[in-house]
Amino acid sequence: MTANWAGRAATVVLAGATSVALLAGPALAAGPVVGAPTAGDPYFPLQGNGGYDVGHYGLTLDYRPGSGQLTGMATIDATATQSLRRFDLDLRRTMTVSSVTVDGRRAAFAQPADLRQELVITPAAPLAKGAGFTVVVRYSGMPRPVTDPDGSIEGWVPTEDGAFVVNEPQGSPSWYPCNDTPRDKAGFDITMTVPDGVTAVANGVLVDTVTAGGRTTYRWSQPRPMSTYLAFVTTGVFRISTGTTPAGIPYLNAVDPSQAAKSRPVLAKLPAMFDFFQSLYGKYPWNSGGALVDNAPEVGYALETVTRPEFDRAPDELTLAHEIAHQWVGDDVTLARWRDIWINEGFAEWSSWYWSEHTGQATAQQIFQRLYATPAKDTGFWNPPPGNPGSAADLFAGSIYDRGAMTLQALRVEIGDDSAFLGLLHDWVQAHRYGNATVDDFVTFTEKRFPQLDLAHFFSVWLYQPGKPTGW
Ligand code: ARG
Ligand code: ZN
Repeated sequence: MTANWAGRAATVVLAGATSVALLAGPALAAGPVVGAPTAGDPYFPLQGNGGYDVGHYGLTLDYRPGSGQLTGMATIDATATQSLRRFDLDLRRTMTVSSVTVDGRRAAFAQPADLRQELVITPAAPLAKGAGFTVVVRYSGMPRPVTDPDGSIEGWVPTEDGAFVVNEPQGSPSWYPCNDTPRDKAGFDITMTVPDGVTAVANGVLVDTVTAGGRTTYRWSQPRPMSTYLAFVTTGVFRISTGTTPAGIPYLNAVDPSQAAKSRPVLAKLPAMFDFFQSLYGKYPWNSGGALVDNAPEVGYALETVTRPEFDRAPDELTLAHEIAHQWVGDDVTLARWRDIWINEGFAEWSSWYWSEHTGQATAQQIFQRLYATPAKDTGFWNPPPGNPGSAADLFAGSIYDRGAMTLQALRVEIGDDSAFLGLLHDWVQAHRYGNATVDDFVTFTEKRFPQLDLAHFFSVWLYQPGKPTGW
């Protein structure tokens, strides 16, 4: 499912794809075309593709932690949005494809070296615009972590007992073929087979487990539309516990034994957090909740994987609150382009401050004031402005979080009336359920609601003006 965002997929031209298209001859206006090899996000020019819309991923995987070998079959249900004679999926070349079928018929495929993460598929017959189709990709290899422009690692991160899998912003094609743009949301069914003693945890509910011949298969299901970077299947030795929050949200926690003692007091607050953010933002969007705590400190961050955020170590309370809030702000309402990261991080960070306030700890305004005392000369704290990180290397800069959350707290003060501010946040989420949004969408949404306030100036100072905001 692709959100209706007016991005221009054709603005990024990939030399390799262009020459292939020329060799094949210009497409006739009415004839089948070659789907774009990119979704056109300038931060990650290889991400995503054009010409189709994925509705569902069925991933059947087998992982051998000893050797690091992953074998997979991906069944992808999609709809053609153009009449297509060829299209791409994103998959890194560390994974070798052995066969591709489209609607059950063998398709030609290539993993061109110059296109790095494109799996180019030519179905036996062109696909009609509007038609549903099913692609099955069989592949295997030793997935490797991806290094991001900010130097952090992501994707498939091997651990002592399995692999910790986190995919924001570009890890997914290191382990499964997909249309890796945050705008093409789809349901996921992930099945993973691992050696006995190892547990595989993924998004959604555990449908069943089957043990045979020293190996166990875990089947997980999360049918609601979610972005590809929010899918995961993490393996290792985990202690599983389940429950239901007072408001009725079922949850499942998976904790690495080495992190159990430190996690226990924090995870005790998890049910109340899910319920608190549900009361703030509206009905919980997913079929399960919980958390996964692994021992993968080399990763250095947590991720808001849908239904069950992942932590590379025992989380602290506000980090847990941040990732749970993301289930609404980030996962349900998702950035439209990577430069819109404030739509995810500013909101999740402010939400964690509001949890602090709600539980009688520091109020959001106290946290704001403590941070606002940071001198203007500390430009690394204030820049880049959260409305535009400027480059992929600054996607997760501290200012996106701290100044990003300060922006919302300053807006709360500007609006003055708490129920009006909280109503804005609630209605913002409800208006974009399972969707995508830009920073400008939030500005427009807010300005329409509070026409009596000079919010144009407020937002230009807080979101876009470099350096410490003053005089808003
Ligand atoms: N979204 C994560 C959070 O909740 C951060 C992900 C950072 N990813 C990375 N590749 N550095 O803050
Ligand atoms: Zn976050």
